[in-house]
This record gives sequence, structure tokens and C-alpha cells, in this order.
Amino acid sequence: MASDVLFTPTQLGALKLKNRFVMAPLTRSRANEMGVPADFATEYYAQRAGAGLIITEATQASFQGMGYPRTPGLHTKAQMVRWKEIVDAVHGAGSKIVSQIWHVGRVAAAANRGVKADVVAPSVVPAPGQIYTDASGFVAHDVPRALATDEIGATAKEFATAARHAIDLGFDGVEVHSANGYLLHQFLSTNVNKRADRYGGSIENRIRMPLEVIDAVIAEVGSNRVGVRVSPGHQFNGIEEDEMVPLYEKYIAELDKRDLAYLHVMRPTANTVEEDVVALARGCFSGPMIVAGGYDADSATAVIAEGTAAAVAFGKSFIANPDLPERVRRRAALNAPDEATFYTPGRAGYTDYPVLAAEETRA
Ligand SMILES: Cc1cc2nc3c(=O)[nH]c(=O)nc-3n(C[C@H](O)[C@H](O)[C@H](O)COP(=O)(O)O)c2cc1C
Repeated sequence: MASDVLFTPTQLGALKLKNRFVMAPLTRSRANEMGVPADFATEYYAQRAGAGLIITEATQASFQGMGYPRTPGLHTKAQMVRWKEIVDAVHGAGSKIVSQIWHVGRVAAAANRGVKADVVAPSVVPAPGQIYTDASGFVAHDVPRALATDEIGATAKEFATAARHAIDLGFDGVEVHSANGYLLHQFLSTNVNKRADRYGGSIENRIRMPLEVIDAVIAEVGSNRVGVRVSPGHQFNGIEEDEMVPLYEKYIAELDKRDLAYLHVMRPTANTVEEDVVALARGCFSGPMIVAGGYDADSATAVIAEGTAAAVAFGKSFIANPDLPERVRRRAALNAPDEATFYTPGRAGYTDYPVLAAEETRA
């Protein structure tokens, strides 16, 4: 079968994967305002343990990093108790799991935080458009305060502490979220980062904050358990990157020196860029890559078979198909994702997508 390569094991740093299917990080807003995942999140993740690797939904290292309603954290006791249940359930079901750690930066409404905390960004440049809040529906993003130069070390430390918590709880690794218009990506950008200090201006300066975060995480848990997600050219959340190609050539070349478990490259799906960003990353990075963004079984097979990627992350198809690898193996039809329940509380559209019936799974 053409997709056989998807069912072979691979190694990403310290992580041994049983197959090449990765569950992409997927914000589902099923936690509470204190960032504690729902009890049924355990079932949701365990249902998807056919994946060789599960990357959790983006998880904040502090209340300051929380922007959307009901997103989880990894910095309070109650959050950690629930994550431990999730990790144990995923391991019991036979998969690996890493925690995606983020800070939303300016993509926030403080009203969504269970605890009061400033909205911060590289500069005082609010995000365009609106953000959903449980209290008042869609509202304008809060105007951020610029992070002071001497606050950046503390932000890096928060990421490192969350990574420490993750490893102590039994996660197999962590993924630093440097994509999709959130804080690290805001530092990389030319339109949100207007700083005059050593974190703004030149490419070398704009990659400094993300690298300091990543280095702090590596120092805490070891590079072979650390992945980094980037999305070159992705204009999501109002990001602009002048000189995108030299920016990522320099950034990824720096990442390449760090012996990461993997680089996770998400190609833009909402907007188009001239450059093939997967090829751009491959040209600068010598370690294993995970790729994401609109892949199906055939294109995933091709990108692995040609040697570009070690594994492929599937987003919407893993939401709708808890047994995605089994369906691909059987060449069975896929369930369609229901966008209306992507971010709604409760089990509907979360734990209730059907798996193949027994007779459909017979060879
Ligand atoms: C509901 C939803 C939530 C998402 N949440 C995250 C997230 O928390 N972190 C992240 O890096 N990407 C997130 N993404 C992007 C996905 O990880 C993935 O890259 C994207 O959906 C493209 O892959 P696909 O075409 O296979 O769905 C999200 C996407 C969707 C649809």
C-alpha cells in the first residue's frame, strides 16, 4: 500500500514513535477559566492514541500567557493533577505525548483570564479584529503593554518552569510554540515588534527573544526532549514578516545548532506565500522535521518518502477521526469535522466522533 511508510516507526530526539502520524496541537477550549482541562479531556486524548505522537493543545505557562477562553495552563497544582491523568491515559493507550507551551502575547482579552494579568506584546500594537469572550461575546483585543527589556528573562523562565512541570508529570517532551502569531512569532515579525532595544530591529535582534526562551527550556529539560513549531509566512493574527526568507534562514539555522528533538513546520493554509516554506526549512535544518498544514494520507506519504519529513501532523482530520491511522490503514472514509464545536465547552464534537465499527475494521 502506498501509505505503508506512515506505519513505520521513527525517532525524534529522545522520542520513539510507533508510526508517523502526529496529532497536531489543537486548541479546543474545554478547560475552565483557571486553565484546568476538563475531566473528559483524558478520554479525548486517549481516544487519539493511535497516533505515534500527540502534541497537546497550546498550554500557557502563566495567566499572562492566556488569551482565549478556557485554554489550559501548566502552572497550577490543579492543572497539573489533570495533565497527569491525561499523560497516564495516553501512555496507557500506547502513544507518546508532548506539551505545546505558548504565550499568546497580544492575542488576548484579559477578561478570559481567571486571574488578573496584563496583556503584553513586543510593542504597543494591538491585534486586529476581535476575540471571543464568554462574558461579552466578541470584543476588540486588549491593547497590550510592551514587555520591558528586563521582563524577557522572566518570560523565558516561565516557559522553562512549565517544561520542567511537563517532564516531571511524565510528558515525553515539550514543544515551544513559535508560530501562528503568538508572542514568539510577534517578536519575529516586523509589524508587531517595533522595539528599539536588543530584541527589535535587525533579524538578529528579532530572533533573540524566541531563542532565549528555547535555550531556557533546553537548559531545563535537555534538547532531545524539545521541539519548536514555526509557521513561516503565516499571516494569522495579523502578523507581517518583511524579508521572511532571510529571517527564517537565520532563525532555523540557529535552531539547527541546538540539536532539537524536532522542528515542526506548519505551512500556511489561510493565506498563500510564494515560497515553499517546508523546503525552506528543510534547507536550513539537519534534524527530524514534522510538517503540518492540509496534508492527507497521500501527500503525507509523499513528504515522508522523499525524505523531507519524519512525521506529519494532522489537525482537523484528528479532531473528526479519533482512529485516523486505522482509517487510513483500511482506506476507510473519514468523518468530516464540525467547525461549530471546535471551541465550545462540553463533549459534543469532542469525545463523540465515531470510530470504525468492528465489521468495518476487518481486513
Ligand atoms: C480548532 C483548531 C485549533 C488549533 N489550535 C492550535 C494550537 O493550539 N496550536 C497550534 O500550534 N496550532 C493550532 N492549530 C493549527 C493546527 O495545529 C494545524 O496546523 C492546522 O489545523 C493545519 O493542519 P490540518 O490542515 O491538518 O488541519 C489549530 C487548528 C484548529 C483547526
